[in-house]
Amino acid sequence: MSASELFDRIANEIYQQGFCVIRNALPEALGVALASEVRSLPEENFSRAGIGRQADHQNIETIRRDEICWIDNTTAAGQAWLLWADGLQQALNRRLFLGLFSFESHYAHYHPGDFYKVHLDAFRGQQNRVLTVVTYLNPDWTDADGGELLIYPEKSNQPLLTVKPEFGTLVVFLSEEFPHEVLPTLTDRYSIAGWYRINTSDSNRVDPAF
Ligand code: OGA
Ligand code: MN
Repeated sequence: MSASELFDRIANEIYQQGFCVIRNALPEALGVALASEVRSLPEENFSRAGIGRQADHQNIETIRRDEICWIDNTTAAGQAWLLWADGLQQALNRRLFLGLFSFESHYAHYHPGDFYKVHLDAFRGQQNRVLTVVTYLNPDWTDADGGELLIYPEKSNQPLLTVKPEFGTLVVFLSEEFPHEVLPTLTDRYSIAGWYRINTSDSNRVDPAF
């Protein structure tokens, strides 16, 4: 699948149903570079992920237990990923007029036993994250490893989809509309989670602040 065929398919599925899951979507060489980089980063580059301002540390750990490392242009693989994500951003803006303005993303490392309980990535009217992108960096993933991503319809606890965190699988969904969770993983699980934002600047506020 060429990049433009892939981006067309993502745009169509987002338009039709608000989400899409595509296996082997990430360009192979990019996936290989990211999978190797995430495993070679020093442990101290990763920190316990947060969930918002109010929650204290103990509370957070009952909700999510992954460790994250934000991705920037300072590494070769990070740069290639951000370039790819920018291509997707432009394609979606051209096809769907979404007005996506910026992109932020992090590597996530779930150690054995780690999970992320049901959550939304953005709350209607409060945030400017509009589209979530997740991809997986786990060659040789098997069903026995657990760690599936479950995506729910807005008002039901019956999952719409179960996604295995297999190398190259790409998941894209509207951030405000789909509650989702990561089931406990039994082995080390590596992913990237990213968000496209719209610009909500007004005369009183400049956002994003970077
Ligand atoms: C997140 C998230 C899903 C995954 O980081 O917000 O939902 O499968 N990640 O890693
Ligand atoms: Mn999420």
